[in-house]
Amino acid sequence: MPKIANINLENNLVLAPMLGVNCNAFRLLSKNHGASLVSTPMIHPDSIFNQKDKDDIIKQEKPISAQIVGKDPEKMSRAAIILEEKADIIDINLGCPDKDVLAQQSGAFLTKHPEQMIKPISKVISSVNCPVTAKIRIGWDNNSINAIEVSKKLEDLGIAAITVHGRTRKQGYTGEADWDIISEVKKAINIPIIGNGDIFEPEDYQNMLEKTNVDFVMIGRGATGNPQIFENCLRYKEGKALIEKDLKLSYSFFLEFLNYYKEYSPRDNFSEIRQHALWLLKGIKNSSNLKKNLSLTKNIESLKNIFEKEL
Ligand SMILES: Cc1cc2nc3c(=O)[nH]c(=O)nc-3n(C[C@H](O)[C@H](O)[C@H](O)COP(=O)(O)O)c2cc1C
Repeated sequence: MPKIANINLENNLVLAPMLGVNCNAFRLLSKNHGASLVSTPMIHPDSIFNQKDKDDIIKQEKPISAQIVGKDPEKMSRAAIILEEKADIIDINLGCPDKDVLAQQSGAFLTKHPEQMIKPISKVISSVNCPVTAKIRIGWDNNSINAIEVSKKLEDLGIAAITVHGRTRKQGYTGEADWDIISEVKKAINIPIIGNGDIFEPEDYQNMLEKTNVDFVMIGRGATGNPQIFENCLRYKEGKALIEKDLKLSYSFFLEFLNYYKEYSPRDNFSEIRQHALWLLKGIKNSSNLKKNLSLTKNIESLKNIFEKEL
């Protein structure tokens, strides 16, 4: 069974942390369709102290990884201690390219200056009992690829697993993820490596495993509106027929999402619900009118009516 430290996981598929996407309903949907580990989006310690984010995590999602972003050792460790009550793993964001995050000397800034990540990471590791993982990019830009050096430091500090997103900070989400560097990190490091970047089809999952030998594969954009990707990756590996997404299946995913949202979300945010309905139509042929009509809806009943008329 795949493991991160003492946490047993049913398979090697992980839902990527995604701000604005990974509410608890989407995490439950992903888990129910094959992801063995899900992650919160990055959480700023201050928002936890203000009680904004903590209550999103529910026990049905376990095992779950909670991601924190920041650089202040005291705040990071206090946040980790609070999150540990509900999460199984604390993940530290060392890859965010957002300029506000970089301005606070957090995210990818810390891997550009690896000596500055030592204090916050050591403090978090010594403050919690659960495994602490880290998520990095391969470097700041093409001239400063340092994923191996950074990963070795993280391993020495006691990090339990490392996610490597195969892009630089400069690339943002453009270009292609460099799986060769992920593969080099895997060869150089003894703790589990989670490969990340550009898994959109089950074949990509299989290819990443073969090409990089990573222990886990993390999927982000490929899972948005496509929770069946996890199940399909597992099916592909076992040579089973894949689940074809059609309008009916998208609607059933939507109803499942909606039930989770109504039951567990601390928010009552219709535009968040509608956004997931629209994402679920990704890849459905001839759905542009439906998408347009759904985007004009103002409540759940009219959204459901419009969707159902098309079935
Ligand atoms: C909308 C969106 C939000 C994201 N938010 C986070 C985040 O909160 N923390 C993080 O570490 N990465 C975040 N990422 C990066 C993803 O976790 C992942 O590394 C990236 O999308 C590459 O994987 P993919 O090709 O499977 O999408 C985000 C990506 C997207 C598209």
